[in-house]
Amino acid sequence: MHDDTRVVRSGRHPESFHGAVNPPVYHVSTILSETVEELEERGRATEVARHTSYGRKGNPTSWALEDAIAELEGGFACLTFPSGIAAVGNALLAFLNAGDHLLMVDSVYGPTRDFCNKYLARFGVETTFYDPCIGSELRELIRPNTKLLFLESPGSQTFEVQDVPTLSTIAHAHDLVVMMDNTWGTPLFFKAFQHGVDVSIQAGTKYIVGHSDVSLGTVTTTREFWPILKDAAWQLGQCSGPDDLYLAQRGLRTMSVRLSRHQQSAMEIAGWLQKQPEIKRVLYPALPSDPGYSIWKRDFLGATGLFGVELHPCDPRGIKQMLNGMELFGMGYSWGGFESLILPTNPKSMRTASTWRFEGPLLRLHIGLEALDDLRSDLEAGLKRLREAS
Ligand SMILES: Cc1ncc(COP(=O)(O)O)c(C=O)c1O
Repeated sequence: MHDDTRVVRSGRHPESFHGAVNPPVYHVSTILSETVEELEERGRATEVARHTSYGRKGNPTSWALEDAIAELEGGFACLTFPSGIAAVGNALLAFLNAGDHLLMVDSVYGPTRDFCNKYLARFGVETTFYDPCIGSELRELIRPNTKLLFLESPGSQTFEVQDVPTLSTIAHAHDLVVMMDNTWGTPLFFKAFQHGVDVSIQAGTKYIVGHSDVSLGTVTTTREFWPILKDAAWQLGQCSGPDDLYLAQRGLRTMSVRLSRHQQSAMEIAGWLQKQPEIKRVLYPALPSDPGYSIWKRDFLGATGLFGVELHPCDPRGIKQMLNGMELFGMGYSWGGFESLILPTNPKSMRTASTWRFEGPLLRLHIGLEALDDLRSDLEAGLKRLREAS
């Protein structure tokens, strides 16, 4: 089966729900049993529980989404969380103990960085940030107590593509767990488990939900690591509400067609922006000029709609004029929904292990599903405002 078919079919069981195409939304915490035997049977632990015992521990609404994501990611099983960052936090807490050392990519999503520095540190876990473009030098950073390698590729602000297969091989040779925030790649465009990842995280809030109306996270693991994730998630008590889970699995059904449009429009806009005199560089791994292009082409099955642009040095007032006047590109701290977004970003302030070498101001764009010509016109008018103000 192709992924286009899988996103439509996986996780659905009409035969169990009177033929209904979509699984019903189970609003449930208490599950009743008629007999003591049934009560005991429901409470019985199985590797992937697919019998109800208590609402928080899973029900047909959560299983529909989790089964679909696990299948698309190519992992063993998946759990859902109330947000992407909840998924990240839970996954890290599941695998790390006091005294452990964590290797974290320097281009990581800001709140993940904060979780390490402000939270894991309180529990005696030490984090070393490493250059996203690191190769075999990773070996030199591994200590006897290093437990986990965390990847995010490409970085969602600066778009460096990591050599996931090489880094995973090194990590496994030292018995590390390899965990990745795979939100940019999505379960369709980056098959994390085929490249050596053990634990793959999605901020489902982005392309899986796809409609900017739900926060959700997913964590998928190999069979080996599944019990560790499941135990921690159940102890930390994180679960998502049924309406959010339902909306996410509804969003998933159209993810493949949405992604091809995001990709097609993003390629066009990125290529066009590259030729504009105000733009110094476009940071989009799918462009042959991007430093990450060869790894992206080798490992990824597509590119999503999020990329960066470096402007030539200019008057900051010009950037404000440009952004304040945008008609279609909204300003909001997110991406992955149907709408186009634009934001100024400042990666320099967030680096500790590597230097952000580009000098010009940076913008981050998310290319949504609007007509390409309309988006181009909006950007054209914005660049004119920038030019005139500088
Ligand atoms: C790469 C990445 N990971 C994780 C998250 C966190 O997702 P959420 O906002 O659902 O917590 C985000 C959010 O922007 C993100 O960009």
